[in-house]
Amino acid sequence: MSGSVKLARQKNTMNNGYDHIKWFRDASPFINSHRKKTFLLYLGSQALQSENLANIIRDIALLNSLGIKLVIVHGWSGLLKQASASIEENAWSKFLDGIIVPDLLEASVNLIAGTQSQLLSKLSAGTPSSSMYRSDLVVTTGNFIRARPKGIINGIDHHHSGLVRKINRTALTQQLDNPAIVLISPLGYSLTGETFILDPRELAAEVAAVLKADKLIFFVANDGLLDPEQQLISEVMSSELTGELLNTEQAILQAAKKAIEQGVDRCHLIGFKRDGALLQELFTREGSGTQIVQHSSIRVRQATASDVPGIIALIEPLEQDGYLVKRSRELLESEVHHFTVIEESGIVVSCAAIYPYGDMAELACLATHADYRDRELGDLLLEAVTNQVRMKAIQKIFVLTTQTDHWFIERGFATDSLDSLPANKRSFYNYQRNSKLLTKHL
Ligand SMILES: CC(C)(COP(=O)(O)OP(=O)(O)OC[C@H]1O[C@@H](n2cnc3c(N)ncnc32)[C@H](O)[C@@H]1OP(=O)(O)O)[C@@H](O)C(=O)NCCC(=O)NCCS
Repeated sequence: MSGSVKLARQKNTMNNGYDHIKWFRDASPFINSHRKKTFLLYLGSQALQSENLANIIRDIALLNSLGIKLVIVHGWSGLLKQASASIEENAWSKFLDGIIVPDLLEASVNLIAGTQSQLLSKLSAGTPSSSMYRSDLVVTTGNFIRARPKGIINGIDHHHSGLVRKINRTALTQQLDNPAIVLISPLGYSLTGETFILDPRELAAEVAAVLKADKLIFFVANDGLLDPEQQLISEVMSSELTGELLNTEQAILQAAKKAIEQGVDRCHLIGFKRDGALLQELFTREGSGTQIVQHSSIRVRQATASDVPGIIALIEPLEQDGYLVKRSRELLESEVHHFTVIEESGIVVSCAAIYPYGDMAELACLATHADYRDRELGDLLLEAVTNQVRMKAIQKIFVLTTQTDHWFIERGFATDSLDSLPANKRSFYNYQRNSKLLTKHL
């Protein structure tokens, strides 16, 4: 019996086990970068009715077990017609204008409470076959939202339609630190003890802003935003959300814009129909949907000790292929202050190091992750490190390379004799590696 288990394991390793291991390794920079971050997830009524909801819930539980603080805001309005077939016509037409008349209040509250309860039960499942097994996942709900009436606008009474008046940030953060998933329904309570129905997308944006959430994630019907040729847009600045792009629910895009203006780092639009879209967006470099950001998500900056794992993940495959000299973790930790990195969405995608040698400086360990090549990141990094060298009043830069000499030559470097190397570098020259020396006067 034990022999057959062993055999099955070997077979699995030979077939596709390595793919899983590689995927897991590639995901590790994202796992590190997301830990302890706050993500707000918005599940609208279409997502709640989707066949893929069970998978989404499982993936939410997985995020929770990776130490991500999660708030879920759910919608409901698309469920109303089915739930209360006998809605009076006047109440229905008011509802379509965003007005909750008194006759509709009870049905709306019941529907929202029922939706909340269904989500709670789904989040509480934990059969041995699910990723929620033994997760000890805790979900909290509560009166975190203080509301006020929308009131009378242009002479029209909005009755029980409300606006957010105050969000109890302290109570929310306490729950998230617990750590519990916080489930928020689009209901708010006024100081007078009345219940108001809130727009769930606006509510999601406001809660995300109050919590200074790192991500606000909307599940949408498409994979994300599509351009006029129906191609997926992977990143867009919030200022570029123009009419041509607006093929997703307007209210969602408005909420995303508002959240970003109020300090939420980034919003994501992810398809709710596709199994694994959430994990693909959060743990792979290519993502699955659209990111909405305030500024371009590319940042060039000095590396710090916390970048060492990201730099290792970037350069290890290039060391194995002989492009770069092997550097141990200890060496990188002691030399990380020599490195400049380009990060995109918090992940190190490109790096280079500068080592001064008297009146010369060595450019070393220049690398761009394979998925990010040919986007001029190498050029951007070369420009950044060249400026650093100039600031040190150094006039000449050199690089030792085995396979990339043409890249440097096309950027103004020229082949040079090894005699030009600074003496203390020359004594360490690796004749077996036989690198070419290229130099450039600045
Ligand atoms: C060299 C490297 C850093 C360039 O990164 P990048 O971010 O893609 O750089 P850019 O986008 O600015 O440049 C891309 C251009 O360089 C070209 N290029 C890439 N590798 C090249 C090489 N070995 N020789 C010549 N040209 C090369 C690409 O074809 C592309 O050309 P194009 O603009 O005509 O399409 C990247 O290819 C890399 O990491 N290579 C492996 C590590 C390495 O060799 N490092 C140098 C060690 S000293």
